Amino acid sequence: MDVGGTFTNAVLNLKAVVEQSADTKQKNDYQVLRPGLEGVPVTQSSICDIDGSKGNLTYRGYSISELTAQSSFLETAYLLIWGELPNPQQMRDFEAEVRMHRRVSFRVRDMMKCFPATGHPMDALQSSAASLGLFYSRRAIDNPKYIYDAVVRLIAKIPTMVAAFQLIRKGQDPIQPRDDLAYAANFLYMLTEREQDPLAARVFDKCLILHAEHSLNASTFSARVTASTLTDPYAVVASAVGTLAGPLHGGANEDVLQMIEEVGSASNAGAYLDEAIASKRKIMGFGHREYRVKDPRASILQELAEELFARFGKDEMYEVAKAIEIEAEQRLGPKGIFPNVDFYSGLVYRKLGIPRDLFTPIFAISRVAGWLAHWREQLGANRIFRPTQIYTGPQPRTWIASEERISSLNN
Ligand code: SDX
Repeated sequence: MDVGGTFTNAVLNLKAVVEQSADTKQKNDYQVLRPGLEGVPVTQSSICDIDGSKGNLTYRGYSISELTAQSSFLETAYLLIWGELPNPQQMRDFEAEVRMHRRVSFRVRDMMKCFPATGHPMDALQSSAASLGLFYSRRAIDNPKYIYDAVVRLIAKIPTMVAAFQLIRKGQDPIQPRDDLAYAANFLYMLTEREQDPLAARVFDKCLILHAEHSLNASTFSARVTASTLTDPYAVVASAVGTLAGPLHGGANEDVLQMIEEVGSASNAGAYLDEAIASKRKIMGFGHREYRVKDPRASILQELAEELFARFGKDEMYEVAKAIEIEAEQRLGPKGIFPNVDFYSGLVYRKLGIPRDLFTPIFAISRVAGWLAHWREQLGANRIFRPTQIYTGPQPRTWIASEERISSLNN
């Protein structure tokens, strides 16, 4: 695969833009605190665009609804990482390489067997993703072949490691990937030891497309910051996995199902929300830094859930979820707070028989594509991230002997 050409051109364009913007930095250098960097552009990117007021999301210019309807996760990953949809030969090559690299060294599997079975699968994933860096040299990130190989390995091995920990924590040996199964079907097979219904695999593949990329969300920003130090891509992904795990980010999908079960019935939704809002608790699966309308991914996930319910039977929690959405819209809609991607995803995964604490690792399986796209883009026009601060600590002072110190409690 010729990764050099496309990559170099993109680099040259981006480098020129970054140099020009660096000049403007001198002109308007001023200290305004922006908690959480809200609204602060920290890079140029051509990977993903979000129109938060209209609820539009595009990957490299293609709408998420069109990609979910027409594409596959691997094809979408290729698009995100290399900027264009692959031609048939490029797709065959990429798919074949990913299949060839699905297996994980026994050393990683044996390491996972030492993890406590009660540990959270996101911690297992972060540890095992970082361990991949032990197997591959870290000083070749300016070599397009090294970049391509790292992309293939991470896209291929992350699902294997998530499925492996699931079996290991049940006291079983992990099973090997099946080369005759496509990406999504193979993951479900490795996870459940059974070949799943084609509809389940197709819906799961669409979920992976929906979660693959979302511009500068917290975990992608972590990936960029880590990438900007020129460390290896395995450390970049491990850093992003740790960030995604938090309940305000990728970890929300687990908590949403917990909340729906706590509400218990559609008639209780209003009272539950009134109590949560009164005690200033965040309603999990709602709100977004970018969207001021319903997250377009939430709407597509609802359609996927209904497709599964039609085939495999309804989930009574779905009526509760829809009631929560209606009641929340009355209370939080005026503040621009609507369902985000995490609100309905758990109901899809539950119908697919996926354990709740694997919802966020599955988010990570998908988002690796977006993190790697941003990793490549960062390398193309790198400047190490080093923001500044507004210092609010003590003014310079001299050290005093301990007996002369007044107890800090008296300060
Ligand atoms: C993801 O960034 C991405 O793109 C992330 C993501 C991706 O694809 O990578 O989309 C994936 O992380 C989705 C978000 C999953 N998290 C949750 O569902 C957790 C619940 N949501 C909130 O914690 C919150 O909405 C955030 C974290 C998602 C966004 O937080 P912001 O933009 O920092 O907003 P904020 O916390 O400053 O809230 C602004 C106001 C506050 O009210 P006031 O104090 O101004 O009166 O809105 C309120 C908040 O209390 N608010 C909520 C709320 N979210 C915001 N009130 C109740 N419930 C909520 N969920």
